[in-house]
Amino acid sequence: QILILDFGSQYTQLIARRVRELNVYCEIHPYNNFPELTPNVKGVILSGSPCSVRDEDSPRVDLNKFRKTLPLLGVCYGAQLLAQELGGDVKPSQHREYGRAKLELGDPDSSLLAGLSESSQVWMSHGDTIMRAPQNFHVIASTESVKVAAFKVEDELTYGIQFHPEVTHTTEGKKLLHNFVVNICGCKQDWTSESFVEHTIEQLRKKLGNDKVVMALSGGVDSTVAATLVHHAIGQNLYCIFVDNGLLRKDEFEQVLHSYQDMGLNIKGVDSKSHFYQQLDGLSDPEAKRKAIGKSFIDIFDQEAHLIEDVKWLGQGTIYPDVIESVSVKGPSATIKSHHNVGGLPDFMKLKVVEPLNTLFKDEVRAVGRTLGIDEKILSRHPFPGPGLAIRILGDITEEKVAILQEVDAIFIGGLRKWDLYKDVWQAGAMLLPVQSVGVMGDERTYERVVALRAVTSVDGMTADWAHLPYDFLAEVSNDIINKVKGVNRVVYDISSKPPATIEWE
Ligand code: XMP
Repeated sequence: QILILDFGSQYTQLIARRVRELNVYCEIHPYNNFPELTPNVKGVILSGSPCSVRDEDSPRVDLNKFRKTLPLLGVCYGAQLLAQELGGDVKPSQHREYGRAKLELGDPDSSLLAGLSESSQVWMSHGDTIMRAPQNFHVIASTESVKVAAFKVEDELTYGIQFHPEVTHTTEGKKLLHNFVVNICGCKQDWTSESFVEHTIEQLRKKLGNDKVVMALSGGVDSTVAATLVHHAIGQNLYCIFVDNGLLRKDEFEQVLHSYQDMGLNIKGVDSKSHFYQQLDGLSDPEAKRKAIGKSFIDIFDQEAHLIEDVKWLGQGTIYPDVIESVSVKGPSATIKSHHNVGGLPDFMKLKVVEPLNTLFKDEVRAVGRTLGIDEKILSRHPFPGPGLAIRILGDITEEKVAILQEVDAIFIGGLRKWDLYKDVWQAGAMLLPVQSVGVMGDERTYERVVALRAVTSVDGMTADWAHLPYDFLAEVSNDIINKVKGVNRVVYDISSKPPATIEWE
């Protein structure tokens, strides 16, 4: 495996994903929490950072822990750190070093750059630059404004590059990473979803033995794939619980429950609609609604879990981005992520936790799902928030409002599928607004509800753009909604990006 030391760059996870795409396992560790080296670790990558190596309190690592013993690749800040630590000079750059640049090979024989074109496009994003390379640095590629764009340290398998091979704008970045990970570090490319499935099921069997596991399913990709893995390992000893909180999409509870039954899961559907509506009664504040839903869910789940005799484990669909320890370094791009789904259930459950997906990125979870033969319809599902329609009904929740929104949402999502647009958007849904507006129907004036449609494109939900859906599609959906959903006389489309808006309205 490859170890990636994170100095807080926004691109660190992308490096890991690229390495994984080469079918090589890798892990991200914060620079200040260096793990014990095992024989499995074949090389180290130092990430970029929003900091400058010139700052006194910039993040640092003791290079002696792995330099010369393992192949080492510094990317951007990582490269500058190497240059500085080995006696070179890093200064603020004079030229603009942000965006596309042409990389010219200085040493086509270098193993790191083997097979790259003489001249190729790379992506630069840094404020500092290596002004003077140390004596024993061999410059292997340059751009017009960055002389030391790539270097190798003499007599060591230590390399540095000031550009970002992990972003797609670096057109031959994947080749470079392949050279490092496979040719230089000698990693075997055997990390595939098939090998993951086989290995994980075996591990789960060993770990769980004859123990019982309880798990809440949501119909989402992560919990479904996690449950399927555990199911393959221990069969009916996995007890799945799927709660109908009355805030799901139209017919979703029944449909998802059937899919789970078809998959052979030991699943219990629990109709708790009235409990949730009761707990939400009169609440309009978004956070109060979220809390009430969270608490109700825990109460119901706890009650159900107690019905299973002698259960020892709690299964969870936690994925890798939720468990990567965030590096907190100062600087504008050191983003702080708010985890919606981490934290899980409270201590009083006293169960041991099993999380078979906690080393996987989302796209890998989908690939594993495919290997397991899970229905593509489940795997390609848009994300849906835990509190469901409650945070799409602005203000207080009533059954009547939920019913209206379910109809609107079903027409919108059905339309996206019919027009083959579903896969082009990252998430979509409808919001029921707490305003009414005047309309006209026949000879009569109406005074009815307004709904807003929201569809976004995104990579991870952290930032998003509104989806530029075709006008003809929006026209058809709007018509359908107003004609078919009683109580709605106006449809608007949300054209705000995140930031500054958010995806949900509450
Ligand atoms: P925002 O609205 O913050 O949403 O731009 C980003 C992503 O998070 C989802 N979301 C939630 N998911 N519980 C959840 O499980 C929540 O309270 C919650 N709020 C927002 C949202 O649907 C989008 O995918």
